[in-house]
Amino acid sequence: MAHQWRGVIREYADRLPVTENTRVITLGEGGTPLVYAPALSEKTGNEVYLKVEGMNPTGSFKDRGMTMAITAAVEAGAKAVVCASTGNTSASAAAYATQAGLKCAVLVPEGKISMGKMSQAIAHGADIIQINGNFDNCLEVARKLSENYPVFLVNSVNPARIEGQKTGAFEVVDFLGDAPDYHLLPVGNAGNITAYWKGYQEYASAYTNTAGVELAAVASKTPIMWGFQAEGASPIVKGHPVTEPDTIATAIRIGNPASWQQAEAARDESGGLIDSVTDTEILAAHRWLSSREGVFVEPASAAGVAGLLKHHAAGNVPTGKKIVITVTGHGLKDPDWALQKLDGSAVTPTKVDFDVLAVAKALDLA
Ligand code: F0G
Repeated sequence: MAHQWRGVIREYADRLPVTENTRVITLGEGGTPLVYAPALSEKTGNEVYLKVEGMNPTGSFKDRGMTMAITAAVEAGAKAVVCASTGNTSASAAAYATQAGLKCAVLVPEGKISMGKMSQAIAHGADIIQINGNFDNCLEVARKLSENYPVFLVNSVNPARIEGQKTGAFEVVDFLGDAPDYHLLPVGNAGNITAYWKGYQEYASAYTNTAGVELAAVASKTPIMWGFQAEGASPIVKGHPVTEPDTIATAIRIGNPASWQQAEAARDESGGLIDSVTDTEILAAHRWLSSREGVFVEPASAAGVAGLLKHHAAGNVPTGKKIVITVTGHGLKDPDWALQKLDGSAVTPTKVDFDVLAVAKALDLA
């Protein structure tokens, strides 16, 4: 009988801070496909895989961390949770809070979250507060709110989020049989690069879990981590916070990432890099994924692929390596970007009468 995936907490219970008595809040997240990318592999002379996180229950990788964060909120006896978000965290928090029976408040930057994500938070009944500021301002308010009022913070500054998200690395290793040579991903608030690095490290050596049991190493090595920010929101690359972050990739429009130091540690300890890619490069990679690999993502999710193509063009990418790129969120989150050509002109479907010959002609078949 086929194995039915049980969500990341149950699948990786021995490596997460839960006990037999924990009430697990799950929507069946994780177990996402690691898809071989033939066009990227051929272009770069490597074996390139995409970790397609849009396949999670709310359409982004955030669900891995949110199952843990909401489970922890319930365990702590919380009645309400809060998060700041560029959209995906709010969609995920709203969904998991609903299952747990918790109230959920989300703080989002006004006018800078995509319609798909907003519709999710609304559908799940979250209290949505639009803030006249950017994500960094929202996070500051969310933190202070949780310090002064009875609301539980579920942003990735909460260690439970990182614990859940590290399972992405476990799945990659479990699928490939070992760690890849390189792991590429977008960087916004820098929680995900922190989490992947933690997961890879824990899998590459003996690990004593919260029950005091020592688990053997699963991987023989850790990958080199390459993270990519959007150029207009690239504080780690610039070495200072960006007060007015600006990019079409609204998910990573962040000027002062909460896990900045952990991201630098992942970069330095793995011998990797954190670089930026332009909006043009992001949109070209977004189009590459949909038109050449069959994988539809939201713009921010393409930053890792943009980074690979940029560094390949610069001659910095070796050949013959296993490269995994996390593509973080589903294309339907923010579909407008697919509806225009790269030059900005609209894509207009051909219209014909309901006549076979007319359709055949329109398709160049006749
Ligand atoms: N990709 C997508 C689609 C995201 O939504 C985010 C972050 C990132 C990449 C960057 O990940 O923050 O861990 O470095 N979105 C957060 C949110 C900020 O509120 O949904 P990170």
